[in-house]
Formats: sequence, structure tokens, C-alpha cells
Amino acid sequence: MNDVEAINAMVRQAAEKAAQETNDEPEPILVGDLNWPITCELRPGLEGAIACGTKIGYVNGSKGWLIYRGINIFELAEKSSFEETSYLLLYGKLPTRKELDNFRMKLAGYMPIDETVLAVLKRSPTARVRDTHPMTALGLCVLVLGMLDEKAEDTSVENEREIVIKLIAQIATITGMIARLRSGRDPVEPEPSLSHAANLLYMMTGERPSPVAERIMDISLILHADHGMNASTFSAMVINSSLANAYATISGAIGSLKGSLHGGANERVLYDIEEIGSVDNVEAWFQKARESKRKLMGFGHRVYKAYDPRARILGPLAGKMSENNPEIKRLYDIARKLDGMVCAELGVEKKIFPNVDFYSGIVYRALGIHAGMFTPIFAASRISGWGARFLEYLENNRIFRPRAVYTGPVREEYTPIDRR
Ligand code: SDX
Repeated sequence: MNDVEAINAMVRQAAEKAAQETNDEPEPILVGDLNWPITCELRPGLEGAIACGTKIGYVNGSKGWLIYRGINIFELAEKSSFEETSYLLLYGKLPTRKELDNFRMKLAGYMPIDETVLAVLKRSPTARVRDTHPMTALGLCVLVLGMLDEKAEDTSVENEREIVIKLIAQIATITGMIARLRSGRDPVEPEPSLSHAANLLYMMTGERPSPVAERIMDISLILHADHGMNASTFSAMVINSSLANAYATISGAIGSLKGSLHGGANERVLYDIEEIGSVDNVEAWFQKARESKRKLMGFGHRVYKAYDPRARILGPLAGKMSENNPEIKRLYDIARKLDGMVCAELGVEKKIFPNVDFYSGIVYRALGIHAGMFTPIFAASRISGWGARFLEYLENNRIFRPRAVYTGPVREEYTPIDRR
């Protein structure tokens, strides 16, 4: 078994462990036909709200399962590629070899981008790219791409699907550009012979990745591609439901993903681990965090009340990358100890477990990536899920427009300014 096969075997072992720890019956309530009108019990944050029907993917929160188009995430992580998984999400089926080759060629063809985007990154306020958060720069660049696309305002499903494919390619390129500029180096051109995962790493680091690094990045991109009605996906659907164009849609989704309660948590997990500093400090840090009711980055989830299946894979990958790497081992050992303590206390009390963001940063750090770039990598993957879902909804579009309960006064007199 070579090193890449060993990585795939780790995914298989994670699947076996998950199967032992949870049964695989999907929750009955959210699988099946959807006949409007429906009633559901709602709580703050639209908890419990049903936004739409979908065939794209399903998160089974009580069992800790995730499926894309019916296929279990463990299968896809072990056997698929990000390109193939993106095709599956967008078209609803696994591609034939020819379809996959054509899709890959299309992505490679779209990767080089108009030099205007680089000029914006180099000269505009984002020229201080070091200070501007990379997700802010990424969202700006997507809007610049929209300005450069004379078909941007064509909101047909066909045209917006093509834009999504273009953005799968170009968000990777822009992420690479931002990473290079932040480290004071010039961007490198995409290398069409590389896979998407390898190209993303190459454009960020300037070095062709090893087969193991490429495989690990590919698995991480697969894991982050789609996840139900999460805040950034729902943001994309809400924006697109007004028939705003696909660029405005994705720029808005990037804005939502940036938040620390969402995709921005992966970066903060690393800062927390660095703040803890050593395995010996974990217990004191955790107790202090509990006393101060501090939100533990990388833990908890609106839907998962079991261990996030994606963390079940990213954790062992982080462990694998900590072998022969003392710095990564230091980070990983702290993470493992914190994981154990949180699961033993909050896991029991409040069903709070590690989520996808808890180990991903250690994996990316081991791949030589700066923490500020962790969330753009999340976006470089989630563009596929954002696209698949807003395109699915666009097929039978109806603008999202919920209500609010008005709790203010209703018969107030207007008081002239001299009497206020
Ligand atoms: C992602 O939705 C998705 O699918 C998202 C995502 C995806 O793939 O798109 O999975 C990606 O965003 C993962 C989540 C990344 N964010 C974090 O790791 C930030 C830390 N997590 C929390 O802020 C929180 O768990 C959320 C935001 C993820 C979920 O928040 P909820 O569902 O609104 O839960 P809540 O804040 O109402 O908490 C319920 C209780 C509270 O305690 P009580 O007030 O009832 O006593 O659980 C506690 C919270 O204090 N709690 C936590 C906690 N998460 C919840 N306490 C400490 N640390 C935490 N992380």
C-alpha cells in the first residue's frame, strides 16, 4: 500500500468507526416528499424552518451522517475527487470518464483570470492585502469578475451554471493569488496539468504538492463542498432568489462564510490552540473558557448532535500529518486533548462535539498554509454546494420573504420636534 492508498484506508477506517458508533437510519422527519403548506416548530435563527425541498444533500444530525446526492461522504472522501464530487453536486450523477475529463478541461480552461483582478488586489485598498481579511478580498474579486463578464446579468439556469463552473475554477486561482500576495510574493499561473486540489496548493505555495498533500487537500475539498441549509448556502439562495446575478450571489455567500460562527471558525481554532500553547495548559484553559461561557471555536453545530463525520476524517488526517512534524504534533496533541475534554463534558451535557472546523486548520497548517487562508479554502470548496443549491432552487424560483412578529407600539403620535 503506497502513501496515498494509506490515506484512503484511513478514511475507510473512519467510516467503520462511525458505523460502529452510530446507526445509519436517517431521521424520518426530513427525508421524503415535501407538500406545501407545511407546519414546523420554529426557534430563533430559523432553527427548525424548512426552506425548500432538495435532492442535493442531507445532513443526519442525530446520527452524524452526511450524504451528497445519496452517496455517503465517507465513500466520496475515500474514492472520489473534488472535481467528480462537484460534478455530482451540480448534475445529480457521477460523471462518466469522458464527462469527468471534459469537466476537468473546462475547469482548467477557466482558471487563468483577467489581469484586472490582480490589479485590484495590488492597487486598491486591498493592496494592503496583509491587513484586509482574505475573505473580504475574495468577495471583492468575485464582484470584479462579475463586472468583467458581459453575460453576468443573464440569470438563466444555463448561464448561471456556467458561471458557477467558472467560479469553481477562479475562486481557486484568486485564493492562490491572495495567499501569494499576503506572503509578499507574486502569484503563480495555474498549471493545467495538475488536479484541482494540487493546483490550489501550487497556486498558494508556489510548489507542486506531494501526492499525499494533494490527496489530503482533495479529501478536504470533498468534505467541505456541501452541507445543507448552512448560513452561507442559505444566504446564496436568498440573494439569488431575487434574480440578482450569480456573482452577487457568491460574493454574498463568501461574506456569510467569513463569520466566526461559520466558516471563519477554522482560522480561530488555530488561534485558540496557539493560545493554549501546550497540552499541560488545556485543562486550565478549558475550565476558564467554561466559566466565561466562551464559545469554543470548532465545536458545536445547529444540526449535528453527534460527532461531525467530517471531523472524523480530518482528525486522523491531522494526526497523520503530525508524524515526523514536531510543530504539527504539538498542535495536534493539544487539539486531541481539548477534543476529549469537551466531548466528555459538553458532549454529554449539550451534545457539543467537534465540527468540520476543528481539525481542518491543523491539516492546512501542515500543508504550509497561513491561518488567514483557511476560510478562503473553505469557500474554494463550498462554491460547488452553493452553486448546486441556488441553481436547484432557481429551477422553480420564488423569492425568499419571511415575516417577523412586530413587538413594538402600534398607535404612537407624531411629536413635533419643538416638543421633543
Ligand atoms: C460551520 O450549518 C452548517 O452546516 C455549518 C457548517 C457547514 O458545513 O456549512 O457545518 C460549517 O459553520 C461549522 C460551525 C463553525 N462554528 C464554530 O465552530 C463556532 C462555535 N460554535 C458555536 O458558535 C455554535 O455551536 C454554532 C454557531 C455552530 C451553532 O450555534 P447554535 O445552533 O445557534 O447554538 P447556540 O449558540 O444557541 O448554543 C446552544 C447552547 C448554548 O448554551 P445555553 O445558552 O443553552 O446554556 O450550546 C452552547 C451555547 O452556549 N454552545 C456552545 C458552543 N456551541 C453551542 N458552548 C461553547 N462552545 C461552543 N462552541
